[in-house]
Amino acid sequence: MTMSPALTPETAAAEAQATPVRVAVIVGSIRTGRFGPAPARWIADRARRREGFEVDLIDLAEADVPPVLGGDSADARMPEQIAALSRRLHAADAFIVVTPVYNRSFPGSVKNAIDWFFSEWRLKPVGFVSYGGTYGGIESVAALREVFAEFDAVALSYAVAFPDFWEAFDHDSLPVDAERAAARAARLFDQLEWWAATLREGRARQPFPGTPSD
Ligand SMILES: Cc1cc2nc3c(=O)[nH]c(=O)nc-3n(C[C@H](O)[C@H](O)[C@H](O)COP(=O)(O)O)c2cc1C
Repeated sequence: MTMSPALTPETAAAEAQATPVRVAVIVGSIRTGRFGPAPARWIADRARRREGFEVDLIDLAEADVPPVLGGDSADARMPEQIAALSRRLHAADAFIVVTPVYNRSFPGSVKNAIDWFFSEWRLKPVGFVSYGGTYGGIESVAALREVFAEFDAVALSYAVAFPDFWEAFDHDSLPVDAERAAARAARLFDQLEWWAATLREGRARQPFPGTPSD
């Protein structure tokens, strides 16, 4: 087994437990008049109240992600906004993608943002908050799980979904059934925390086999 000279399994485990979990909450919709900020602000607020969590709310509508991907030249300059977003994503130990459903899948804005990056997503846990009509956007979550598999990210099986979202949030943009929603958020956080600590420890202990290092 390859061991980092600085870390034994014991010190890696202790470090993983002691360090705060940096969660990036990503607002996936960039549509004019979108609903997305309501569930995103709610889940970010719940996460901020959680001991040991640090939250970065990343709104793709503000991130100004170019719709055209960069070329393959190694000398090409990374657009400034991509460099800035890269730093924020790199800093995260875990992600929560807040996604609507457009024609039974997640919107292009989310795929575009994902495709600009690679190592930023690698070997990290990803949780989802979805919203939509009858199925609460769970089709988007199913499709995103497949995408994140490319990065050997851990896309959580559990997700927080809001079917008929226009009835699920009140005039203050908060879930009508606050208690139930909070319990679901807590379950998501419990699982993200477990994976964030476990994967952080794993990344520190040894390189992931079979791929070039980041
Ligand atoms: C292009 C488009 C396709 C949509 N397709 C679906 C769909 O397949 N299933 C569904 O439940 N809602 C669908 N909707 C309704 C969305 O759930 C609703 O518009 C929601 O507000 C979108 O989230 P946003 O406002 O944050 O962008 C669609 C909306 C748009 C704009």
